[in-house]
Parts: sequence; C-alpha cells; structure tokens
Amino acid sequence: MKNVILTALLSVIAVVSGYVEELDDKFNEYRRNELWLVEFYAPWCTYCHTFEPIWYEVGAELKSLGSPVNVGKMDTTLHTNIASELNIRGYPTIKLFKGDLSFDYKGPRTKDAIIEFTNRVSGPVVRPLSSVQLFQHVMSRHDLIFVYIGGESFLKNEYYKAATEYIVYTYFFSASVKVLPKAVTLQDVPVVAVFKDGTYYLYNESNGNLSSWINRERFPSYFQIDSFSLYQMGEQSKFVALAVVDEKNPSEESIRYKTLMERLSTEYRDHYKSDYQFGYMDGNEYINGLIMGEVVMPSIIVLNMTIDGYFLPESKIETIEDLLLFLNRVLDGSATLLGGNGYLQCTKRAFFKAKSTVVFMFQTAPVFSCFVVGLPVGVVVMVIWGTCTAVPVDDEKPEEGATASPGKKAKELQPDNTEKTSEAKKED
Ligand SMILES: *[C@@H]1O[C@H](CO)[C@@H](O)[C@H](O)[C@H]1NC(C)=O
Ligand SMILES: *[C@@H]1O[C@H](CO)[C@@H](O)[C@H](O)[C@H]1NC(C)=O
Ligand SMILES: *[C@@H]1O[C@H](CO)[C@@H](O)[C@H](O)[C@H]1NC(C)=O
Repeated sequence: MKNVILTALLSVIAVVSGYVEELDDKFNEYRRNELWLVEFYAPWCTYCHTFEPIWYEVGAELKSLGSPVNVGKMDTTLHTNIASELNIRGYPTIKLFKGDLSFDYKGPRTKDAIIEFTNRVSGPVVRPLSSVQLFQHVMSRHDLIFVYIGGESFLKNEYYKAATEYIVYTYFFSASVKVLPKAVTLQDVPVVAVFKDGTYYLYNESNGNLSSWINRERFPSYFQIDSFSLYQMGEQSKFVALAVVDEKNPSEESIRYKTLMERLSTEYRDHYKSDYQFGYMDGNEYINGLIMGEVVMPSIIVLNMTIDGYFLPESKIETIEDLLLFLNRVLDGSATLLGGNGYLQCTKRAFFKAKSTVVFMFQTAPVFSCFVVGLPVGVVVMVIWGTCTAVPVDDEKPEEGATASPGKKAKELQPDNTEKTSEAKKED
C-alpha cells in the first residue's frame, strides 16, 4: 500500500516537474525567439530548494492555461557566463524573456502572483480597450490602471516606452474617448489618465516627464503595503506614512489609525501627493527588522526608505489634526530622524541581520547551521593561529602592518609612548 502511494506521488512530481525545463548555455541561442520564464538558482541556496515545488506548480499551471510562455530553471554555478551576462546577483532570480527584452520579477514568491506577472508581461505592453463593456470590466478587476486616450501622437510613443518600463508593476491600456465612462470629462486629447482611488487623474506636462509621473502614480493613494512594495518606495523619493496594525486582532485604536490614514490620503491628496505615500501594514515583523527594534501594534510611523530612516510621533495620535501636525513636522525637519544608513547604523543593522539570520538558521536547521557557521569560524581561528605563530621574516616590518596603508603603517611603527602621551593630552 505504501509503495503504491509513493509511486503515485513520485509520478505526480515527475509530471509536474516535467513542465519546467533545466536550461543550459544553449538558452542564449533560442531565447529571443520564444517566451521564457526562468528561475536562476544556485545549488547551495536553501531558499531555492524551498521554492522549487512552487516553481513546478507555476510550470504546470501555465501549461494547463495554454500559456505560450515556457518555464525553465538554470543552475548559475554551471552556466556562469549567462549568469554574468544577465547580471544575476541574488537567488532565486526570476526573469521573463520576451524578444530582446528581459523583465525582472520583484513580487512575492507565490504561484498566483508569479502567474499574474507572467500573463501581464508576456502579453501586449499596451492593451486596447475597444468597448464600453470591456472598459467597465477592466475597471472592476483592477485597483489601478493607466489609460492612453487619443490617436497617434508623440505622447503615445512616450506612453509605450514608459509602459515597457513599468509593465512589471502594473497594467497599461489605450482607449478612444467614446468608450470612457460618462464621469470622465476631458479638455483635450491625447491624454494619459490613471484610474485609481475610485476616481481618475490626468497627466500634465507640468508634472515632469511621463515616465516619472507614472512612477509616482503607480500606487493607490492608500493601500495595504507589503515588504515588496515598501522596498519599491525607496525609488520614489516620498516618505511612507504607515499604520502598523495586527489584522488578526484589530483593536479599536488600529481601526482608528487606518481610518485616519485613509482620510488623509484622499482629503489631503493634493497637498501631500508629492511628499507622502499612505498605507497600512499587517504585522510589525518587517518594520522591526528595518528599525532594529520593536514597534508596538498599532502604531503610526513615517519611513524614509532611501536611507532606512524613520520618525515616530512624540505624543499619542488621537485626531486628524495630531496626524497632520506630525506629518508636517517630518516635512519641515523639526521631527527627529531615527535610524538611517550612517556608518554606525549600517554596522548595527548588519549585526542585527546576522543575529536574526543565525538564530533563524539554528532554529530551522541546527546541524547544517553548525557546519556553515563552524566552517568560517574554524578558518578564522586557523588564520589567527597561523599569524601568531608565523616567524616574521623581517623584525622591522611586523606581520600585522603588511596589509595596512603606508600612512597607517608609519603610525603603527611610532614608538608606543608618543601615541599614548598625545592621546592622554587629548583626554585632558
Ligand atoms: C497643467 O497644470 C498647470 C498648473 O497646474 C495648469 O495651469 C494647466 O492648465 C494644466 N494643463 C492641462 C492641460 O491640464
Ligand atoms: C524623466 O525625468 C527623470 C527625472 O525627472 C529622468 O531621470 C529621466 O531620465 C527622464 N526620462 C525621460 C524618458 O526623459
Ligand atoms: C530621505 O533622507 C535623505 C537624506 O537625508 C534625503 O535626501 C531625502 O530627501 C529623504 N527622503 C524624503 C522623501 O524626503
């Protein structure tokens, strides 16, 4: 009986994994003629192993959907030339290849999100909305869409260029004036509009170029922010104002914080749209890692993602006026910046990350971790031991100074007492 189940299970795995091709150096020869979704991995990357079943499911589901996209994976340690040509840095890296272009997937590593990305990016960059019904249907399915309205124009070329750049994040459509909802009134076409927050906004050249406007407008004014979208905010040069809440145990206070944030994002949109992104985050884990401390839930926090800095209100936020005051203090520079990526902060963050990683590793894979952590420690011990017992070739040049810069070496070679006296003087 057990054997039957095992055989059945193995054959299911064989069938599912059959939709994912193991790629080699020849990939470069045919990738421009076909659509490919590829996971680049390394055999030593533990997360890649965890991710593998999801990747097989992606392959199987795309096949069953009749998608023209082929799914593959490539061991970057075997095919280093392709990996360096494509500039693969982290593992796993997911890329979609379409003609001469490749698109990076930066979202959560779940089957549904990856399939949504694949369907979006592999299709036309700009999708025409040819009827009122189609327009309504698309509006009902997406929180946010960009639409080009009008005929051929210079703006249309710019729109296609920007869409190619941002298709990895969101959808782009084109339409004629006839198919627009009645509520939309236009002075002039061609024009580019973003439909979001239950309304629409038009692009205007005084907002900067189209590409940078799309980059600023590609998020709803207020939404649930996860670590992936938060990471993207680093490129936005906007502060992120967040309500950090526990969605499993929503207290009255957390509901109030979310409501305040949402009200601000709409009622004060024109005032804050170039300075703030508003949202809420479920759980404080990611934020704790970022600030290397613990934020209580619920709380309100403002982040500067460019420098990993943050601001906390000095007193409790009860009303919208309190929140406005806090946001304005961040803008005028009178609120205290915490965190940031100065030298000290980076070191601290490196230690914090290393500590959490090691703790996590020992919790999940103790034996493996002992080996991984033990090996470099062993090497370091050997090096120290080697250095201490090595006989210096020349007594005048101590071993430790060998790698230091000439200036530092000269200082180190100074007689001990001079340095001590100068330091002693400084202390006085
Ligand atoms: C663009 O914005 C400027 C300033 O906000 C305004 O004066 C102008 O009328 C706008 N142009 C269009 C086409 O909406
Ligand atoms: C748009 O403007 C940004 C800065 O405002 C600039 O970095 C970018 O190169 C411009 N893009 C185009 C297509 O002109
Ligand atoms: C974040 O901090 C940097 C460095 O102080 C600053 O240049 C940048 O403008 C800040 N970001 C925002 C959105 O103000």
